[in-house]
Amino acid sequence: MAKTSTKGGSSKSTDAKSSAAKSTTAETASTKASSTKTAASTKKSSSSAKTSTKANTKVKPASDAAENLREFFLDGLKDIYWAEKALVKNLPKMAKNTTSEKLTQAINKHLEETQNQVTRLEDVFKALGEKAKAEKCDAMDGLLKEAEGILEETEPGAVRDAAIIAAAQKVEHYEIASYGTLATYAKLLDEPEAMELLVATLNEEKNCDLDLTDLAVSEINLDAK
Ligand SMILES: [Fe+2]
Ligand SMILES: [Fe+2]
Repeated sequence: MAKTSTKGGSSKSTDAKSSAAKSTTAETASTKASSTKTAASTKKSSSSAKTSTKANTKVKPASDAAENLREFFLDGLKDIYWAEKALVKNLPKMAKNTTSEKLTQAINKHLEETQNQVTRLEDVFKALGEKAKAEKCDAMDGLLKEAEGILEETEPGAVRDAAIIAAAQKVEHYEIASYGTLATYAKLLDEPEAMELLVATLNEEKNCDLDLTDLAVSEINLDAK
């Protein structure tokens, strides 16, 4: 049975700082907002009523919605195939913006693994008798946009390096969750070849996450403090 558990959560001090920063920003925003509160309140209550109606609506499935676990499994493979290809394009930028030689090496090492993971996913599709197809992964798209934003919000140096690790670990955790689920489905659907390939990638993602944790807690987060 493929394990889906993860071992991560490295940068506690960075997280704490960012959460403190957020609360300060939120407080400032709330002070500013209070002056316009009365004018906004009527508008707000009507828009929140609309939102809650929408939130309580049952979702109508799309015409191509998955009807069984195999179809849902294939949808997940298309999603992670898109995600890995997007990472091949975006990891070089993350590597280029680090100042730590060790972090650059760790990202470049994982870039090579990621290129291999794209090929491995093509082997998974082949093992299932399916054509390899990518479908946009909204989650990875969002994580990569966030990583891009982090570069803009930090000066080059240890803080940016710590922030790059934080962004990279969010990506790894998404991948670990995805591959853990996909490997579990492959086993359930009696697809041992696909399962073996997916577990191989799952282990690479877990090792990358652990390497990033080690690097963060042993030096980069401390330099950023
Ligand atoms: Fe990957
Ligand atoms: Fe990865």
